[in-house]
Amino acid sequence: MNYTHSLQSKQPNVGTTIFAVMTGLANQHGAVNLAQGFPNFDVDPAYISLVDKHSREGKNQYAPMPGLPVLREKIAAKIEELYGAKYHPMNEVLITAGATQAIYAALSAIVFPGDEVIVIEPAYDCYEPGIKLNGGVPVRTQLTKDFKVNWEDVKQKISFKTRAIMINTPHNPTGSVLLKEDMIALEKLVRDTNIIIISDEVYEHLIFDGEQHQSVCRYPALADRSIVMYSFGKTYHVTGWRLGYCVAPESIMKEIVKCHQFQTYCIHTPSQYATADYLDHKEKYLGLNNFFQQKRDYFLSLIKQTAFKPLPCKGTYFQLLSYAHLTDEGDRDFAHRLTIDYKIASIPISVFYHDFRDDKILRFCFAKTNETLEKGVEGLIKFKL
Ligand SMILES: Cc1ncc(COP(=O)(O)O)c(C=O)c1O
Repeated sequence: MNYTHSLQSKQPNVGTTIFAVMTGLANQHGAVNLAQGFPNFDVDPAYISLVDKHSREGKNQYAPMPGLPVLREKIAAKIEELYGAKYHPMNEVLITAGATQAIYAALSAIVFPGDEVIVIEPAYDCYEPGIKLNGGVPVRTQLTKDFKVNWEDVKQKISFKTRAIMINTPHNPTGSVLLKEDMIALEKLVRDTNIIIISDEVYEHLIFDGEQHQSVCRYPALADRSIVMYSFGKTYHVTGWRLGYCVAPESIMKEIVKCHQFQTYCIHTPSQYATADYLDHKEKYLGLNNFFQQKRDYFLSLIKQTAFKPLPCKGTYFQLLSYAHLTDEGDRDFAHRLTIDYKIASIPISVFYHDFRDDKILRFCFAKTNETLEKGVEGLIKFKL
């Protein structure tokens, strides 16, 4: 091709996401990939059969733009049952191409040039590009050393330009969760403002040790001003199907839908029918906490044989390991070295900070078969020697 003009980049500081980079490196060097957040278990064959059935029945054309009514009805019923909030299925629930698109559509709908959006770091990597592409300005606060939100600092960061605050519980990458007292603090902070909460709850069903997921939907005063994102990819081990959704009060959702209709128009039709059927099996999502808690505990039992220090993980399928006591090497270099020399790929935590703050911590995904975890940890055991 021969386009010779120079194109000014709208995202000069954005490269390829670290997840793709580390996955590519893992593949290139034959390393076990505990970097990217995807499960390597089989998907329930019954779920796959449902997609197949609906596709064979001819449900292969455009779905309704905001999503299949039957799927939206079941989502609204699920949220009401779990968290008590009532969303109107037709006006307040939107099916999206994963939570990623829900986040982008939400930011496109609410952020005007110059608006500030408060981001809590370390933060999932699609938040800031979505804010900036829409002319917004990310205003950052950092979690404390033990991964708590510093609400006093958030308060200091609020200005008359603050359009939204983004929260994420259970939290990627730290595995921390927000508690009731956090939600009460947040509620107090935004009272008497018109600040919107963007609440990323894709790991709602991956929460451990008896903790209860503190969805904004449990708090009417928050739900009334929140856009909440979820992901069937995370819940049903189908990240490649790109199926997620968001819910929001009608006045906000109306604007999100306008953006969605020109981003993807609609989402894969057979998967929506299949998911509507599959949601009837509540045990499939209610059983996830136990399943992943066992995975976490198994991974931790393996890590005991290594020199790495695990940090507390209360939710998600990510376990942080500190190596600060082992070497001064920067986390990106160290993650590369572990991948190439020790055949285990992880994600360096510095990439979740705008200034690449480096606390010498790596993130490992334990949503893998026991064999994969064992094979991966072999590399970490060797590092000790
Ligand atoms: C915190 C968080 N939000 C959103 C997403 C994106 O979810 P999806 O795969 O449904 O787009 C992820 C995926 O890793 C995530 O970890």
